[in-house]
Amino acid sequence: MTRKLFVTTALPYANANFHIGHIMEYTQADIWVRFQRMQGHEVHFVCADDAHGAPIMIAAEKAGKTPQEFVAGIAAGRKTYLDGFHIGFDHWSSTDSPQNHALSQEIYRALRHNELISVKTIEQFFDPAKGMFLPDRFIKGECPKCGAKDQYGDSCEVCGAVYTPTELKNPFSVLTGATPVMKSSEHYFFKLSDERCVNFLQEWTQTPGRLQSEVLNKIREWFTKDEEGNGGLGDWDISRDAPYFGIEIPDAPGKYFYVWLDAPIGYLASLKGWFATQGRDFDAYMADESVEQIHFIGKDITYFHTLFWPAMLHFSGRKTPSHVHVHGFLTVNGGEKMSKSRGTGLDPLKYLNLGMNAEWLRYYLAAKLNSRVEDLDFNPEDFVARVNSDLVGKYINIASRAAGFLAKRFAGQLSAEVGVEGRSLLDALQTQAGTIAELFDTREFGKALREIMLLADKVNEYVDQHKPWELAKKEGMDAVLQDVCTTCIEAFRLLTIYLKPVLPALAAKVETFLRVEPLRFADAATLLGAHTIGAYEHLMQRVDIQLLEALFEPPAPPTVVPGGEELAPEIKIDDFSKVDLRIAKIVKAELVEGSDKLLRLTLDAGEGRLRNVFSGIRAAYKPEDLEGKLTVLVANLAPRKMKFGVSEGMVLAASHGDEKVNPGLFVLEPHAGAQPGMRVR
Ligand code: MSP
Ligand code: ZN
Repeated sequence: MTRKLFVTTALPYANANFHIGHIMEYTQADIWVRFQRMQGHEVHFVCADDAHGAPIMIAAEKAGKTPQEFVAGIAAGRKTYLDGFHIGFDHWSSTDSPQNHALSQEIYRALRHNELISVKTIEQFFDPAKGMFLPDRFIKGECPKCGAKDQYGDSCEVCGAVYTPTELKNPFSVLTGATPVMKSSEHYFFKLSDERCVNFLQEWTQTPGRLQSEVLNKIREWFTKDEEGNGGLGDWDISRDAPYFGIEIPDAPGKYFYVWLDAPIGYLASLKGWFATQGRDFDAYMADESVEQIHFIGKDITYFHTLFWPAMLHFSGRKTPSHVHVHGFLTVNGGEKMSKSRGTGLDPLKYLNLGMNAEWLRYYLAAKLNSRVEDLDFNPEDFVARVNSDLVGKYINIASRAAGFLAKRFAGQLSAEVGVEGRSLLDALQTQAGTIAELFDTREFGKALREIMLLADKVNEYVDQHKPWELAKKEGMDAVLQDVCTTCIEAFRLLTIYLKPVLPALAAKVETFLRVEPLRFADAATLLGAHTIGAYEHLMQRVDIQLLEALFEPPAPPTVVPGGEELAPEIKIDDFSKVDLRIAKIVKAELVEGSDKLLRLTLDAGEGRLRNVFSGIRAAYKPEDLEGKLTVLVANLAPRKMKFGVSEGMVLAASHGDEKVNPGLFVLEPHAGAQPGMRVR
């Protein structure tokens, strides 16, 4: 039966680029989705930026942008990472989309209609200078327990005490330094403590097979009240007062949904946006009972996804998640602490920019992933070992050892049938299809790869026994050689099927090499038989340990010329070659009437015509000092209309960043022999 799967990953905050933890989560979900698609199931796989909230609003303000501009800037950077790591979301949206505004208000209205919204007046710290209520993270002061200075509003980093911001001594606003004052305002609450919610959630969370056992244990704690009747499910504060970057609460002027209310609704809104581009009916799909809704998330956001979210959905009359798959945290180099915003020493963009193969990382992460809520560590030596000895050494090598002989000696033709030994090897590989599929389906990726590598070991043993390189030297052994190499290629194809969810780009190369249609899991049941394969091209390099050293090298501190300016951000050679620099002869130089800064230069850049360029060098040069000299012209700069005429380019000159420290302006001049029109590269 074809499964209908609606799959999401958590929506990342739009206040920073992806860190390696995000890439891990997306890789886990992407492997699972690719596997399901290879099984012929229908999957919609979506995500979005989590755009709202006070931290993003404040970050935008600091950057001198509107929140919308700010999150758009972050969104623009997403594609490089997603494409780079072969993360195949169908759609990427934003929680600030019109669909999400509408859906959030719709769901809220339904909850209100069900009498699950209450209003209470609460007191909170307010920054009188900024005119806004302060989230805990924006209040600091002295620890009430140990007196340590400069501690956040929720806990002390020195003694570990946990408290509320009102307990801090000498509190101050991180935004303005002002002393916050207590101020009351009305807040809206989702009544999670309502009996209906509690009963529903008891049943929903306990449904067999829905949640991982570790998650269930955690949830049991959350449900439990202590002897004094404290604890248990509490009502949830879902409103924030203006100014706030978020979605307005209907019929409540100046009130916005707390970011965590509209964030998960963003899953639905993103799917709705995706369906809109496909001309598909979102409501009909969501009403379809057979659709499974599946969220991949990290352990830190379990409460939101296993309590608030299903309750919101259920009591607004919607489908609830079929599964919430929770993963642990990725640490780097033995548990080095990973900050939510800054990530670790492993920058995924740097990984890509160093030219490291994304599938090395996908393979490595898959090898470490399982279905439990366990943290996993990125260890550089382990990474090199897994990629080089397993992925390349065991798997890729099978193809490279056999393909050459087939191409040279048999024009790529496989034998129609292989001998008994080959047949039994291939049988062993084929019969594992079900086990491997089951492991992928249950997110036991590490186990799946171990099974696959055991099969690769068998193939390599077969190769070592039959030694095609020796057969190739013997007379009259052609048929045997072809048989052995055919077995290898058939085996390589089977292993490729099993690895394809993890290595999609590599699998595509293999499909081209083998001249086969995109491989699906069911293809493991058949063999190629008499088939002609294409030319083998190198499929994958080994990891060079130096790449890892470069990856973990701390970023060089910005180079600062004493008293001068910082080095501009790094560019690629392509960026540089966009600038067309030419040698030009200054045919004429004149003062410009009405300007004490400019000289008008007439330049010959060897084009058979002269150019008019205004240059701000009058303070440093007399016209007659320049005439007849050569210089460097930016020749492909868009012409610029100035008060005195059109300037057709720019002449290069050196100057110090700060004129007061080091005055002077120096026009560039080439060494003797350069001719007008020569390109500077
Ligand atoms: N915006 C919320 C999620 C809203 S979902 C409706 C959020 N964003 S986040 O950017 O902080 O985290 C996004 C996802 O990355 C979460 O699932 C989180 O658990 C995961 N990870 C963050 N750090 C991680 C690691 N170090 N390792 C693995 N996953 C990590 O929370
Ligand atoms: Zn303390």
